[in-house]
Amino acid sequence: MAQKEQSWGSRVGVILAVAGSAVGLGNFLRFPGNAAQNGGGAFMIPYFTALILLGFPIGWAEWTIGRYGGRKGFHSAPMILGVVGKGRVARYLGVTGVLVPLVVYFYYVVIESWCLQYAFKYFTGGLGIRGAAVADQVAASTDTFALVTAQRADGAMFHADHMSVLVAFLATFVLNLYFVHRGLSKGVELVCRYAMPVMAICGLAVLIRVMTLGTPDPSHPDQNVLTGLGFMWNPNFSKLSDAKTWMAAAGQVFFTLSVGFGVIINYASYLKKKDDVVLSGLTASATNEFFEVALGGMITIPAAVIFLGLALAQKTTGGTFSTGFIALPVVFAHMPFGVVFGGLWFFMLFLAAITSSLSMLQPVRAFLMETLDLEGGLATAVLGAVTFVGCGFVMFFSKDLIALDTLDFWVGTFVIFILAALQLVAFGWIFGIDRGFAEAEHGALMRIPRIFKFIMKYVAPTYLLVVFVMFCVQNVPSYVRSLSETPIAVYSWLLILGAIAVIAAVTVLGSRRLRARGMDIDGKEEV
Ligand code: ALA
Repeated sequence: MAQKEQSWGSRVGVILAVAGSAVGLGNFLRFPGNAAQNGGGAFMIPYFTALILLGFPIGWAEWTIGRYGGRKGFHSAPMILGVVGKGRVARYLGVTGVLVPLVVYFYYVVIESWCLQYAFKYFTGGLGIRGAAVADQVAASTDTFALVTAQRADGAMFHADHMSVLVAFLATFVLNLYFVHRGLSKGVELVCRYAMPVMAICGLAVLIRVMTLGTPDPSHPDQNVLTGLGFMWNPNFSKLSDAKTWMAAAGQVFFTLSVGFGVIINYASYLKKKDDVVLSGLTASATNEFFEVALGGMITIPAAVIFLGLALAQKTTGGTFSTGFIALPVVFAHMPFGVVFGGLWFFMLFLAAITSSLSMLQPVRAFLMETLDLEGGLATAVLGAVTFVGCGFVMFFSKDLIALDTLDFWVGTFVIFILAALQLVAFGWIFGIDRGFAEAEHGALMRIPRIFKFIMKYVAPTYLLVVFVMFCVQNVPSYVRSLSETPIAVYSWLLILGAIAVIAAVTVLGSRRLRARGMDIDGKEEV
């Protein structure tokens, strides 16, 4: 089978690939918005709690399950979970491990193409808003964002004004398919090897610029680096009694680490039995946290406060993904060498996004190859056709970004909880926590602290359950009521359900084919 030929080029390569998957738009756009809306510094309490009790342990479980499944000859989430979870229930729930990367890709790559458009705008002179009054700059920046995202009306991207939207999208789309088609070491790993250091350099350059701004406008002495950092980081403890804050933190941890995403389980399946997973998992997560807290948390919002003042910053930093696109161009318009720093910023966002979007395509391609026995070229072609339809949906239904937000909220948050829980139960309860730890520590360069046995078996599942139930109680009833007013959200749901049906049907076909070949798809034999 073609997948047997796939492997990682080196240990550092695989860590960089996982870190590349983790570091993405979630770090630079989703994290600052989430933190600012959920108590600033106080948000870090539920955030770090979720990181330690959910993120790290479920990450270790995912790396271990993935490597184990690979040894049994499987690379797709449904098949690997079927083996570790011993049977068809886990296998069919494992459909979520293909659904998440596929559907998140549908909108993620669209946002990636916005980054490309902005980078291009900056490399060719910026947005042209320098010198105007701040209120006019905000209005112009909001207009540019609406133009770049074609969000004024459904189908607006076909309007002549939005030609660049279409071109940027097609370029981004083709680039992703090209690299994923080249395979693990010549595609994903190669891109991450170069992109990660370049991202770090661009990010540090922008960070140093922002941190050395002092008080740029003497008529507003209150707008300085300290107030900016204070707005982002001063704790508002009252937010901690709101269940939403805890859910937002857990959801952010999964999204940012790419844990419960269906990515790591696939990436780890190409490791060898004695390849370390414990230290590698920790290193990739720690790298992600550096980008998230030290760069994502220190740039966007402090910079917005410094130049726009608290009131305006609050107004322009509300949306999940829009902060960096609306507030920062105004900031760059005021900054010395703002065009250069704007270019660096959006180019870094584009690199961060592509290393993550590639990681979403790869598991789906592996699934197609494994279940339908497709050769590499055909798998890429089918992947291209499927994702073109999905991305086309998001691009077409662009009005107010409702389709994008619906997919992000339900698949990019809700389904991730389900997949994370499934992996945890498969690892801790079905495979067995002691056996799971022994498996994780084959070839490991460090031991997992024993306290995590208790955490993984009892604490994390309970934590997940509580957060998940709270999430449902708080969101589902009002959401269902609102569906009647937003047909696009209903179409988005149909897209999600259609994707589930197709992935499940392909899983059935694949199971039959692999069983007929004599493969142990229910994990009966131990290895
Ligand atoms: N982990 C990726 C991000 O943070 C998906 O954007």
